[in-house]
Amino acid sequence: MIVGVLGGGQLGRMLAMAGQRLGVRCRFLDPDPHAPAGEIGELIVADYSNEGAIARLREGAAITTCEFENVPASAASLLERTGRFFPGAGALAAAQERLAEKSLFAELNIPTPRFAPIDGPEDVEPAVRRVGLPAVLKTRRLGYDGKGQLVLREPEALASAWRALGSVPLIAEELVEFEREVSLIAVRSASGETAFYPLIENLHQRGILRLSRAPAPDTPPGSGPALQQLAQDYARRVLDRLSYVGVLTIEFFQSSGAALKANEMACRVHNSGHWTIEGAECSQFENHLRAILGWPLGATGALGPSAMVNIIGAPPILPEVLRVPGAAVHLYGKSPRAGRKLGHITLRAPDEPTLSARTERVRAIVAAAEAGGGVG
Ligand SMILES: Nc1ncnc2c1ncn2[C@@H]1O[C@H](COP(=O)(O)OP(=O)(O)O)[C@@H](O)[C@H]1O
Ligand SMILES: [Mg+2]
Repeated sequence: MIVGVLGGGQLGRMLAMAGQRLGVRCRFLDPDPHAPAGEIGELIVADYSNEGAIARLREGAAITTCEFENVPASAASLLERTGRFFPGAGALAAAQERLAEKSLFAELNIPTPRFAPIDGPEDVEPAVRRVGLPAVLKTRRLGYDGKGQLVLREPEALASAWRALGSVPLIAEELVEFEREVSLIAVRSASGETAFYPLIENLHQRGILRLSRAPAPDTPPGSGPALQQLAQDYARRVLDRLSYVGVLTIEFFQSSGAALKANEMACRVHNSGHWTIEGAECSQFENHLRAILGWPLGATGALGPSAMVNIIGAPPILPEVLRVPGAAVHLYGKSPRAGRKLGHITLRAPDEPTLSARTERVRAIVAAAEAGGGVG
């Protein structure tokens, strides 16, 4: 059984690893000859606009899918026209453009931060007036890990914002004073079955995910079940509207009490779900494959408390991490570069206090490597 995957990054690599046990072979298309998934599966090195390469990706494949956000619409629609491609070009289009994405949430009555479109420099002032200061301006397309974003705190900062972000269409958003960020990973199979992982608590620094904890600690105390239900209700609206097949992730801001505002969605497996490899009954990667192949979904329950620490910029000293009980190291085979995600470490423990202690130990090891810039 072959699954064709657009993109060959670490998410593809982990999809392929999950597929191996099930006799599913992943074949990737990526312009980068060193794409991380190439160590695990067949890699076609070509541009996404190369129709011959897309035909090779599809050849003999039961299904095709993608592992990154910004799949060119042409590649997605070609795959959709000529075979089965999940989650589908329509879902990708909605998630690729921040204005379309927030508008979809609003249409489905899913709360979001206040937002307003900016199509030219003259729109900056009225848009920011609508959302209020402080505001975040974001490029509508191609942003990731906090790139293509600018926080405006003073009216004087408005004048230079349009050019500072590259003179491209933007969205203005209120800067939400959230208590914390959480994400929900949902999955729906081609046969219509749905499942949801427990909510995950995420800590970002300078726009990059650093730490996830799952299940998200119960904050405020006692709100857990209602919060989970609310997030699932919102996710279900999106799944239904998009006739979605595969793993879908929604990122939320949680504000005081148990209110959620949807920030963005990802039509794929997600960095905040990497803990599911060791920490859930069935990982997000295996469930994505099961979903697109129309197979029964695996159980999404947590096996206990887990945390995930991202390795960014430089690899940590491995024996130091391996000495921590309950630590599972995943390196993606990427060369070090400041701000680059090189791997992650999942931590498990019998209880929350032990997990916190282990997590802090690992965060310190990872931070030291990053500060040292590649020593290790
Ligand atoms: N409107 C907002 N209010 C407060 N913080 C925000 C807002 N938008 C983004 N952020 C912060 O920046 C991070 C990255 O922004 P996001 O919109 O998720 O873009 P991406 O993950 O695609 O780079 C968020 O996880 C959050 O920490
Ligand atoms: Mg995000």
